[in-house]
Amino acid sequence: MVARSSVLLPCLLCLLFLSLSSASPPPPSTVCIVGSGISGASLAHFLRKYTPSPSPIAGIRIFERNAVVGGRMATVNIGGETFEAGASIIHPKNYHVSNFTSLLKLKRRLGDDNDDSDSLGVWDGKRFVVKTLRSDSKLPFMNKFVPLINSVKLFWRYGFSLLRMQSFVQTMLNNFLKYYESSDSRPVFSRVEDMLKWSGLYNLTCRTLEEELIGAGLSSLLIQELVTVITRINYGQSVQMSGLAGAVSLAGSGGGLWAVEGGNWQMAAGLINSSDVELHLNEEIQSVSHLGTYYELNSTKGNSYECQVMAFATPLDELNIRFDPPISAPERKLQHTYTTFIRGLLNPAYFGLRTVTEVPDLVGTLEDPNIPFSCIAVLKKHSREEMTYKMFSRKPLDDALLDQVFSTRKQTIRIDWAAYPHYKAPEAFAPFILDDWHMYYINAFESAASAMETGAVSAENMARLILSRLSTEPYPSFSTVKNSAFGSNEDYLHTDL
Ligand SMILES: Cc1cc2nc3c(=O)[nH]c(=O)nc-3n(C[C@H](O)[C@H](O)[C@H](O)COP(=O)(O)OP(=O)(O)OC[C@H]3O[C@@H](n4cnc5c(N)ncnc54)[C@H](O)[C@@H]3O)c2cc1C
Ligand SMILES: *[C@@H]1O[C@H](CO)[C@@H](O)[C@H](O)[C@H]1NC(C)=O
Ligand SMILES: *[C@@H]1O[C@H](CO)[C@@H](O)[C@H](O)[C@H]1NC(C)=O
Ligand SMILES: *[C@@H]1O[C@H](CO)[C@@H](O)[C@H](O)[C@H]1NC(C)=O
Ligand SMILES: *[C@@H]1O[C@H](CO)[C@@H](O)[C@H](O)[C@H]1NC(C)=O
Repeated sequence: MVARSSVLLPCLLCLLFLSLSSASPPPPSTVCIVGSGISGASLAHFLRKYTPSPSPIAGIRIFERNAVVGGRMATVNIGGETFEAGASIIHPKNYHVSNFTSLLKLKRRLGDDNDDSDSLGVWDGKRFVVKTLRSDSKLPFMNKFVPLINSVKLFWRYGFSLLRMQSFVQTMLNNFLKYYESSDSRPVFSRVEDMLKWSGLYNLTCRTLEEELIGAGLSSLLIQELVTVITRINYGQSVQMSGLAGAVSLAGSGGGLWAVEGGNWQMAAGLINSSDVELHLNEEIQSVSHLGTYYELNSTKGNSYECQVMAFATPLDELNIRFDPPISAPERKLQHTYTTFIRGLLNPAYFGLRTVTEVPDLVGTLEDPNIPFSCIAVLKKHSREEMTYKMFSRKPLDDALLDQVFSTRKQTIRIDWAAYPHYKAPEAFAPFILDDWHMYYINAFESAASAMETGAVSAENMARLILSRLSTEPYPSFSTVKNSAFGSNEDYLHTDL
């Protein structure tokens, strides 16, 4: 008996100690987010929304190298008027972005750069192979018939392939809707591949859009013309891009598209403002070192910050951040989209036409290296002699070319966007968790498809991933894990590369 209790007592004490230590929550962590676009702003929002009480989060810092928040959501001012310079259209089924807009009491503007009344032309470098009618007729009954006439025109050319395209996009959208299911039934994903497989979208990333569409029974004429026009406009790429991003870009050509009045960037501004964030503008993070129990972030301002959790809310592909220890991710190229805004007037002769009114409001182009731009869209008609246009191209447009395309040019603004990933099938995904500790990468999901909504969807999952890992892998154990973890990180580097 005596002997037994002398064994039991230390055990009981030890149990008591264990229960005490597990009952007291780990010290709250500071979360550092690099990037103030929709991904970073959404992460801050969802971390606050989902955080339990007592909160495992001490504070949230967001670092932004620019002087303004929003990233690829930005506006441009031309001729005293404001237009979206980057992300411009929102699909009616983009539920997170839609909820942000309501939550922040922002106004919606229906119709995008090119609404239903606008005409579309498909330019092959010599002529318009397809041209729809514009419904700006003075006769109201004509305006009613024009969409119908246009549908008939397109149906005449592409036939039932158009319906097959619609159903291909619908299937993708229905799968994507699974990411809005209640968080009770929806898992937390620690890998992009698992997240895509769960919704049934993974296979679309393994083949090119062209392969998928041929599989879905689309005619090659539709693929080479209309589909190509759309992928060139929305992602600056051809139908060789991976199928999921391709399907997302086709969805972005449907009806009911909208934007936030005054600029989509206000969503990021509002979410950051309402999430109790310490915002550091004009501060670029240059190095990230893991120092046992925390990360040390050094910035271009010469400042140093400590955080227990850090998240990248930006593509890492073109950044030059020093990591210690190093991290690895599959190589990914970004597609640059040169966005050129022009206030002036198109030159109809460039298109072999006599008057400007004959030039379609949206000029899309086929996949031909001799065509120097992806599209030209009328943003606003100020008068018969003056309009504002937006052009997308894969290379910068020089003055000599613009002088051929335009007869007058009062103002020209050029923006070079590192716009979105260059999609190739099969797609290789970077990990959501970049190391063995608490370094996260929201934009790993951008290899599936790039959009404001996909950024928010990835950030929502990331917030749940961070909170669940903080509750199961609290910080105090970090320093003891350090040595062995460095070893396993080495293994990780090798397997991933
Ligand atoms: C021309 C164009 C048109 C588009 N059209 C649409 C559209 O119509 N609809 C749609 O949904 N999507 C569209 N997109 C895609 C959309 O813009 C992006 O998918 C989305 O905005 C990405 O948001 P993000 O927060 O992940 O990244 P970003 O918006 O790029 O934010 C990352 C931020 O991190 C900052 N940063 C980077 N490195 C550092 C560092 N080291 N330190 C501090 N800060 C750093 C950057 O300055 C940037 O502000 C378009 C994109 C472009 C370029
Ligand atoms: C959007 O908000 C509505 C109303 O609050 C809610 O029912 C819905 O679940 C939200 N959607 C998402 C994706 O969070
Ligand atoms: C994806 O492809 C795999 C292998 O080709 C197949 O077994 C699986 O059923 C496909 N999944 C879906 C959702 O289509
Ligand atoms: C920030 O939020 C506060 C309320 O929390 C609001 O009064 C203020 O207008 C917001 N500012 C911006 C710039 O959104
Ligand atoms: C970051 O800054 C701190 C403090 O100035 C310095 O000690 C450290 O060496 C810097 N780290 C890197 C990787 O430059």
